[in-house]
Amino acid sequence: MCFSQVVWSLLLAVLLGGALTQVGCLDFNFSTFKKEDDHNLIITKGTTILLNAIQVTPDVANDPITNYSGRIFYNKPFRLWSKSKKITASFNTTFDLKITPDLSSKQSPVGEGMAFILAADTTLPQKSEGQWLGIVNASTNGSHQAKIVAVEFDTRKSYEEDIDDKHVGLDVNSIHSIEQVSLTKYGINLSKPYLNSSIKARVQYGGKVMNVSAKTNKTSEYKLIFSLPLELCSYLPEKVYVGFSASTGNAIQTNCLRSWEFHGSKIADEEMLWVWITVPAVLIVFSMIVFYFYWQRRHRVQPEDAYPRIEDQIQGSSMAPQKFKFKDLRKATRNFNPKNKLGKGGFGTVYKGFLANKEVAVKRVSKDSSQGKQEFIAEVTTIGSLHHRNLVRLIGWCYERRELLLVYEFMPNCSLDRFIYGNEELGMEEPTLGWERRHTIIYGVAQALDHLHNGCEKRVLHRDIKASNIMLDSEFNAKLGDFGLSRTLQQSENTHHTTEVIAGTLGYMAPETFLTGRATVETDVYAFGVLVLEVVSGRKPGNQNEQSDYNNNIVHWLWDLHRQERILDAIDSRLTKEFDEEGMLSMLVLALACCHPNPHQRPSMRTVLQVLTGEVPPPLVPPERPAFVWPAMPPSFNEDAENFSSGSQLSPFTKPTGR
Ligand SMILES: *[C@@H]1O[C@H](CO)[C@@H](O)[C@H](O)[C@H]1NC(C)=O
Ligand SMILES: *[C@@H]1O[C@H](CO)[C@@H](O)[C@H](O)[C@H]1NC(C)=O
Ligand SMILES: *[C@@H]1O[C@H](CO)[C@@H](O)[C@H](O)[C@H]1NC(C)=O
Ligand SMILES: *[C@@H]1O[C@H](CO)[C@@H](O)[C@H](O)[C@H]1NC(C)=O
Ligand SMILES: *[C@@H]1O[C@H](CO)[C@@H](O)[C@H](O)[C@H]1NC(C)=O
Ligand SMILES: *[C@@H]1O[C@H](CO)[C@@H](O)[C@H](O)[C@H]1NC(C)=O
Ligand SMILES: *[C@@H]1O[C@H](CO)[C@@H](O)[C@H](O)[C@H]1NC(C)=O
Ligand SMILES: *[C@@H]1O[C@H](CO)[C@@H](O)[C@H](O)[C@H]1NC(C)=O
Ligand SMILES: *[C@@H]1O[C@H](CO)[C@@H](O)[C@H](O)[C@H]1NC(C)=O
Repeated sequence: MCFSQVVWSLLLAVLLGGALTQVGCLDFNFSTFKKEDDHNLIITKGTTILLNAIQVTPDVANDPITNYSGRIFYNKPFRLWSKSKKITASFNTTFDLKITPDLSSKQSPVGEGMAFILAADTTLPQKSEGQWLGIVNASTNGSHQAKIVAVEFDTRKSYEEDIDDKHVGLDVNSIHSIEQVSLTKYGINLSKPYLNSSIKARVQYGGKVMNVSAKTNKTSEYKLIFSLPLELCSYLPEKVYVGFSASTGNAIQTNCLRSWEFHGSKIADEEMLWVWITVPAVLIVFSMIVFYFYWQRRHRVQPEDAYPRIEDQIQGSSMAPQKFKFKDLRKATRNFNPKNKLGKGGFGTVYKGFLANKEVAVKRVSKDSSQGKQEFIAEVTTIGSLHHRNLVRLIGWCYERRELLLVYEFMPNCSLDRFIYGNEELGMEEPTLGWERRHTIIYGVAQALDHLHNGCEKRVLHRDIKASNIMLDSEFNAKLGDFGLSRTLQQSENTHHTTEVIAGTLGYMAPETFLTGRATVETDVYAFGVLVLEVVSGRKPGNQNEQSDYNNNIVHWLWDLHRQERILDAIDSRLTKEFDEEGMLSMLVLALACCHPNPHQRPSMRTVLQVLTGEVPPPLVPPERPAFVWPAMPPSFNEDAENFSSGSQLSPFTKPTGR
């Protein structure tokens, strides 16, 4: 789990960070110096990294380099001793010095020299050039304020006390050496003009004694130059910086450091103690946080199950479609990328996705959607078990993290409503569908509805037939579905007769729906009739409810044309004369029959199919629109279909329980 990884790495960082900052072990190895090494170094002005070496005083190539001094330090301090435990650290350091005299300057003698230094302060003292070697200046010389210890490699006899121009000395807060040894007897010349010449020196400090050794080349052995008892803690603060200083005088040389390794010991003391106390404390706090999050996750499972046993109910059904994991669907839709959006409605949003390289449509039911658990289960178990070429196939479902998701086959041509209306539909300049295609679509929807009403083991009502719920595949075959655009849900504020919530879409609702609030086989047929009128005329169904202006309604408009015996005027003017007039007339009359105000006079979907195939003539319709009378008479049709739906009004597909 990602979260715990973060916690553990944080913990580790705290532990390591604590250890590094609190224990202060210093260990590094510069086998050579590169430009980028200056991140790890403190370098004074005039000091440069050049030709794989640190030029502690400026290079000869620069302008006059007389009377310069410089310093370099490693940028982290070295913890030299511990107050409480009276322990002094030990260290070993080896380095490679290359001092080249500028013989051309004709100045003699050359100078001045370099020094390995341990200092409290990294700033270069003013006027520390020449004889001062960048260690001290005239005012700090001999003062315990200087807080500096140096191992000098002196190339010039500057004072009476200096024994010669090639000696190593140990200086404490002063340029005056408490010990100095000439290198002559070791055959070492500190300052040589050859490119290959450098001297290697080693300083070892064991806490009480300081040893300084040197040699001329890689193969030779280090020779101990001096071994001196030295209490560094008497002169230096707890934390010191380690580095080098150098200077030039009147006569010049380059002072280079070519390599440097340093190994310092750790001191465990009260700060370590602090680490030992805080680390477990931090550990405990983190464990508690981790535990808390785990606990929360565990406990979230319970409120998460807003719909308990939803899985049992779905999987208990015989032909449940595949169950998907949320994370797979999220991946398939690229984290529900708005760019993948196909449609949006009151129920949620439909996204295009790729599952196993196949295009799918993923409906993500919004949490505040009216589509609740029962509707979800109904949809999964009903459509999931229906297989018909004119029904959109439900591939799978997912219920996780309080999210309800449905996966359908992808319909490249979206929904019918994009194609049938005239140019008033701005921004949807789809080509007009020809008569052939329109007929195929109507026939497809009729077959789907007939399958729902009569072809399945149990009768299914769609309850929301409308153009936006007719999906079109790549060959413009109609597939009845319900996703795409919003499914309007009207609180029945305009109906005085019932307070029930009416499901469906205005314009497609049979007149009796406003009284009964119930969906029936006949209300599906009515909506189908409206759809046929739309497809034939290319007009929108218009608004219709009990009290609205009837003139605006496609059904009344058609009944009017029929009364005036001009019914063929209803045909979409964009359809040129390519259609068969008799077939068209038969379809319009069929549509009128479907939209008969009396539900019992409407044909069944079986009859509709027979009319569409030409097997039987269209039902007879009265010359004028009959008045809507309720209760409808005669009650010759089967009534039981009316009893289904009140429990689950919102579902587009409702499995009747009574049959
Ligand atoms: C320091 O680096 C040099 C060159 O890479 C290597 O020869 C030497 O062994 C290293 N020293 C230590 C203590 O690792
Ligand atoms: C360098 O300093 C010394 C002593 O302060 C001085 O005599 C000499 O003139 C200086 N040299 C240059 C070139 O400034
Ligand atoms: C310094 O070197 C000596 C001898 O080689 C060794 O015993 C000691 O552990 C080293 N100290 C550090 C801090 O590396
Ligand atoms: C010595 O160096 C210190 C610190 O940089 C400075 O304050 C002081 O003035 C210098 N003394 C001389 C004689 O330049
Ligand atoms: C520097 O100070 C020391 C005392 O620590 C003294 O002996 C020495 O003469 C001084 N050197 C100079 C050049 O002033
Ligand atoms: C050290 O080198 C310089 C310059 O090459 C030379 O003048 C001097 O004699 C050498 N001294 C020894 C002891 O080798
Ligand atoms: C350095 O070079 C000089 C002259 O090129 C040669 O005499 C000397 O032996 C060399 N020394 C080393 C340590 O390679
Ligand atoms: C310093 O040298 C002496 C004498 O060779 C030796 O006994 C001691 O262990 C050395 N100390 C360190 C810290 O290397
Ligand atoms: C290295 O130094 C040793 C002893 O000082 C010497 O015998 C040897 O010749 C030197 N090697 C080179 C390559 O200069």
